[in-house]
Amino acid sequence: MTSPNFYELVGGEPTFRKLVDEFYAGVAEDPILRPLYPEEDLGPANERFRLFLIQYWGGPSTYSENRGHPRLRMRHAPFRIASAERDAWLRQMRRAVDAIQLAPEHEAVLWEYLERAAHFMVNADDPD
Ligand code: HEM
Repeated sequence: MTSPNFYELVGGEPTFRKLVDEFYAGVAEDPILRPLYPEEDLGPANERFRLFLIQYWGGPSTYSENRGHPRLRMRHAPFRIASAERDAWLRQMRRAVDAIQLAPEHEAVLWEYLERAAHFMVNADDPD
């Protein structure tokens, strides 16, 4: 038997569903983030993000079957992401991570990744 991957360790699909639902509930109310999302319905964006995270952490690769290679920086290029947008994203994500109540060692691994990925997605300078 192989040892469980991170996706399995943290509870599989329901855990990522809850994380992303919490995150998007925050985005829906966020004055910095909400205007960035092109669609009125956040449901499709929610699903894309959930499937991406599931695939990244070792679950089913449905994301790439639907969307191809993630190329996340390229896919974020249409959206202006400076430090204010990054910090707003991380604030909503922090709330969502707190809500799923992972074991501290798992939470640390997840948070370190999300913080690093959010910094990597910045594609614009702060206004003067
Ligand atoms: C898509 C904003 C960081 C993963 C999107 C979209 C926006 C957005 C506006 C388009 C929504 C859609 O129609 O799918 C932001 C902002 C960020 C950020 C402001 C601040 C740093 C991240 C990070 C990740 C991520 C750190 C990964 C850990 C994704 C994925 C999609 C997406 C997987 C869908 C890509 C696809 O089209 O298949 N993001 N994002 N985002 N974002 Fe972000």
